[in-house]
Amino acid sequence: MDSTNDIARKLADEGAEEGTIVIADRQIRGKGRRGKEWISPLGGVWMTIILRPDVEPSKAPQLTLVTGVAVAETLNQEYDLDIGIKWPNDILIGDKKVSGILTEVKTKNGEVDYVIVGIGIDLNMDINTFPPELRDGATSLKTELDQEIEATRLVQRFLEIFEVLYKDFNEDNFREILTGWRKMSNTIGKYVEVHKKGRTVYGEAVGVNKDGKLILELDDGSLRKVISGECIHVTKSK
Ligand code: BTN
Repeated sequence: MDSTNDIARKLADEGAEEGTIVIADRQIRGKGRRGKEWISPLGGVWMTIILRPDVEPSKAPQLTLVTGVAVAETLNQEYDLDIGIKWPNDILIGDKKVSGILTEVKTKNGEVDYVIVGIGIDLNMDINTFPPELRDGATSLKTELDQEIEATRLVQRFLEIFEVLYKDFNEDNFREILTGWRKMSNTIGKYVEVHKKGRTVYGEAVGVNKDGKLILELDDGSLRKVISGECIHVTKSK
């Protein structure tokens, strides 16, 4: 496929029902956040879920965190690995990215029409085949576990866990999901740079508020909340 997100958007526009999943062996135009390319060769899990949650549009981006918790929980339950979540939605093994999430929201007459949640998991690929600039920061389950991973089982487990969390989200239990997110976060407590629209904010990540915004303590001691952006963990301590 070109991109499972693109196909899912087309299906959702045509009325596909909630729970429809688009899954590919390989994407030739995989999309990452901020317009970046997402390298998607054979051996990974590339899938997109169509959702039609009954929430205000402002809450739809929270589904990115819900999905991040579901991916991290799946990997934690299935494997003995050091899994963490980098705000808002990168799943890491140690300090290397193994999975990313791209959420897109479509509204109609001020309401959510649909949300598509794209999930990429680096499973059975050899990271040495990735472009050099990505190699240092990325890993795959096969690299970490030294064995091939059965994709079908992983996808099944993920969907079971996601379904429970999505139900919680629809029942207004985002706070509880955030408790899980905080436990698995490896951003909180770190000094970070957050890049957004050409601007950079530096500070210590001290928490995530009830809406999923990252709370930064800036060098002058003031607090700043950020809803989105690219977050980089830096070694400098406060
Ligand atoms: C990121 O930049 O971290 C988000 C990456 C999201 C990649 C997934 S793979 C399945 C779905 N289809 C796409 O084109 N992108 C997402």
